[in-house]
Amino acid sequence: MNDPVTYDVQDGVAVITINNPPVNALGPGVSEGLQKAIQQVNETAVIIAAVLIGGGKTFIAGADIKQLTRMASGAVGHGPGLSPLLTSIEDTPKPVVCAIHGTALGGGLEIAMSCHYRVAATTAKVGQPEVKIGIIPGAEGTQRLPRLVGIAPAAIMCATGRMVTAQEGLKLGVLDAITKDDLLTEAVRFAREKADTGEPPRKTRELSKKLKLDDNARESLAGLRQSIAKRARDLQAPGKAIEAVELAATLSFREGCRKEAEIFDTCLKSEEANGLMHVFFSERAAAKVPDLPAEAAPRVIQSAAVIGAGTMGGGITMSYVNAGIPVVLKEINQAALEKGMATIKRNYASAVKRGKLLEGEMEKRLNRIKPTTAYGDIGEADIVVEAVFENLDLKKQIFGEIDTAAKPEAILASNTSTLNIDQIAAATKRPEQVIGNHFFSPANIMKLLEVVRSSKTSPEVIATSMALAKKLGKVGVIVGNCFGFVGNRMFSPYTNEAQFLVEEGASVAQVDQTLYEFGWAMGPLAVLDLAGNDVGWRIHQEVKHSIPESNRQPLMTDILYQEKRWGQKTGKGWYRYEEGNRQGLVDAEFEAQIRAEADREGIAQREISPDEILERTIYALINEGARILEEGFATRSSDIDVIYIYGYGFPAFRGGPMHYGDRIGLKKVYGRICEFEKEQGSWWKPAPLLKLLAEANQTFAEYDRR
Ligand SMILES: NC(=O)c1ccc[n+]([C@@H]2O[C@H](COP(=O)([O-])OP(=O)(O)OC[C@H]3O[C@@H](n4cnc5c(N)ncnc54)[C@H](O)[C@@H]3O)[C@@H](O)[C@H]2O)c1
Repeated sequence: MNDPVTYDVQDGVAVITINNPPVNALGPGVSEGLQKAIQQVNETAVIIAAVLIGGGKTFIAGADIKQLTRMASGAVGHGPGLSPLLTSIEDTPKPVVCAIHGTALGGGLEIAMSCHYRVAATTAKVGQPEVKIGIIPGAEGTQRLPRLVGIAPAAIMCATGRMVTAQEGLKLGVLDAITKDDLLTEAVRFAREKADTGEPPRKTRELSKKLKLDDNARESLAGLRQSIAKRARDLQAPGKAIEAVELAATLSFREGCRKEAEIFDTCLKSEEANGLMHVFFSERAAAKVPDLPAEAAPRVIQSAAVIGAGTMGGGITMSYVNAGIPVVLKEINQAALEKGMATIKRNYASAVKRGKLLEGEMEKRLNRIKPTTAYGDIGEADIVVEAVFENLDLKKQIFGEIDTAAKPEAILASNTSTLNIDQIAAATKRPEQVIGNHFFSPANIMKLLEVVRSSKTSPEVIATSMALAKKLGKVGVIVGNCFGFVGNRMFSPYTNEAQFLVEEGASVAQVDQTLYEFGWAMGPLAVLDLAGNDVGWRIHQEVKHSIPESNRQPLMTDILYQEKRWGQKTGKGWYRYEEGNRQGLVDAEFEAQIRAEADREGIAQREISPDEILERTIYALINEGARILEEGFATRSSDIDVIYIYGYGFPAFRGGPMHYGDRIGLKKVYGRICEFEKEQGSWWKPAPLLKLLAEANQTFAEYDRR
């Protein structure tokens, strides 16, 4: 293995290079290497200054998160962390210049700030993204950053985790210079200049001019707190980050650092950090499809065609053109095509209006779309994505047509939410090139892409879909071809339980509020109203023949459909909606109707506790997830977590349903499910895998590592 830190001399300046590919994370050996190099700078009389730089593509892009999880679990001690190293860098009597390219993030920026000056490439970015994994900067970052940029800007950076560009960084004061030229040459020149002045180097910890908390700063902080309460209502780390930064205004540097360490420690041990770190690793694990042969290289996708410009087709088209891939968008007739294009234009125009997109960029993206009603136009596409109505016969017919029109090597993907990909593929002469690419609504925004493999999909086509997901800014998760795949298959027992609870006496709002407070983006019944109760009814028609008699089915499915209570789109569903407002209002009339139906069915009415609502809905998810895992339709329990967080709005800070199950303990989950089976009925039969793990006192995470 190469040395993680190397030491050279250029023009009397020590050049200390960190080489810990791929991102120069602060892994084992890096801080020790830096400490040694700094000592050498101090001890070598002919050295007049030092430059600290990253080898490869970037400066230090963060801490070693694996090490953080070990610290959180108590497996390794916290120790003094980076503090002694930062102090020795800062106490070096010769100027130390940090040269930043790529990104300087987290511990990387904290090291950079302990240097006396920072010179960056114009393309560099810096930030303190720790809140994204539930913690705050823990190596004096909350105390040095405000000394460089001021309290409010530092609080914004630490509480949002947002990276700032080199230009912004220069303006804010976290950087001293930026350059388009060779970074190392410029940094060495800068260091020599500073040494030539003969002045003692500037120590960040001794700066105080920007620490004043005036009215403006106070106002910014109040605004920041408000926006965080809205955007990150369940998270504690953003608020804690602000608290730590604010301490810089009143405490000495050392005292501030001591407090920062305390807050860091509390955050590190929180459920939030545990859940978010799990999501971090799970997302990376999901990118790996274990049984793909190494030679299955992804193909380059340079153009696409989308069939159907409805809700999903429009969003999928936007995803592609946003990523720079031109799309031929095909509809059945001119009117449907114009309607679809009008929606796409409206969505972009609204982004421009909200300042999220430049007008010129909108034009560029729209120009990448070629609307058509003719199959003849899809012949050049490398991939064709089908997004027509959810009907197997229709999809088969359309795949036959696409097969004729598309070039022989094109991949044919279906966005079906439930249908069998093998059956769809059988309608073509290239079943090995057919795959499910299941986007989530709104497809241009939601980060999840379920990549559904059929029994015939070729490894190369799978690899291409996984790479494409990344290119589209999504998280691709490989799943197997079962009804509803992973996400929707689990969603059905979850929403069924929500409905049963209402039939037994809970109110619609009580069920949704309990799950909202648990952290879901929306309660399950509000989601049904959003997705459309007509859609739910149609799916029910497809599956009802396969549901055993003994299984309980929601009482209101047919009524919702027949009474056109289709949800938001018809102004009523589980809730009622006022014109132009998507917020559901309690519908007393419908609640009374539910009670009457329950009465007719002889369902006893009772008080239902929030605990029961949580257990019955979330454990239903976990039980079905365990079944899917055991049947091999999901590769890892952590893949299921990723699906639920990015596709369904499960609270990320809880790490996903399977991780949540692990945290409460599968013994407890299994025990309650056995009770539900006795009290409720056979649909609560525990998944064999859950039983196995519970009895062996194991977790889903352990099962993933098997
Ligand atoms: N809506 C969702 O939340 C969601 C989420 C994931 C997946 N899906 C799936 O995506 C697919 C599309 O759903 P949607 O909600 O966008 O439906 P939609 O009704 O909004 O759109 C379907 C479109 O397909 C068009 N179409 C029909 N036949 C066509 C043909 N021969 N050529 C070209 N266009 C044709 C229709 O004119 C219509 O505009 C379905 O399979 C659905 O299950 C939907």
